[in-house]
Amino acid sequence: MIQDNLMKALNDQINYEFYSSYSYLAMAAYAQSEDLDGFANFFRIQAQEELFHAMKFYDYVYQKNGDVTLQSIDKPQLKFENMVDVFEKGYEHEQEVTRRIYNLADIAAEEKEHSTISLLKWFIDEQVEEEDNFNKIIKKLRRAQSNPAALYMLDEELAQRVYVAPAADTSAQ
Ligand SMILES: [Fe+2]
Ligand SMILES: [Fe+2]
Repeated sequence: MIQDNLMKALNDQINYEFYSSYSYLAMAAYAQSEDLDGFANFFRIQAQEELFHAMKFYDYVYQKNGDVTLQSIDKPQLKFENMVDVFEKGYEHEQEVTRRIYNLADIAAEEKEHSTISLLKWFIDEQVEEEDNFNKIIKKLRRAQSNPAALYMLDEELAQRVYVAPAADTSAQ
């Protein structure tokens, strides 16, 4: 049985994952408006991944006989300076998500709620990848900044990204 404060924190995280999805969709729209279809593709898939995260928490709450209380989703940032700015904001966002997941893990540990600790282990590992993805692209973008050809090459590269739902995962569906 999950205590109220942990249940509330899990519900808040569902909201934050939806907000993450919305934020990345806003970044996709910005990239689209700049005619960078590959970057737009990258962020549309990123938005899909965040929906998957939200639903993973959502399903878990019901598996643990809790209730999901959906809240309003904050308006995401819509305007950006350039693609470096977009990825820097994305990187900061992922670092904030990591802090929130750690905070959840701290609460779950205090409550000795071992199945939630196990669920959060998946998210902790996922966040390593998320931060690394953004950081790597920032580095490439900074190098490409003064070179439009390099920017379009990166756009082509990001056009190849496809959404893959985590295969080995059975807890989310
Ligand atoms: Fe997420
Ligand atoms: Fe993420």
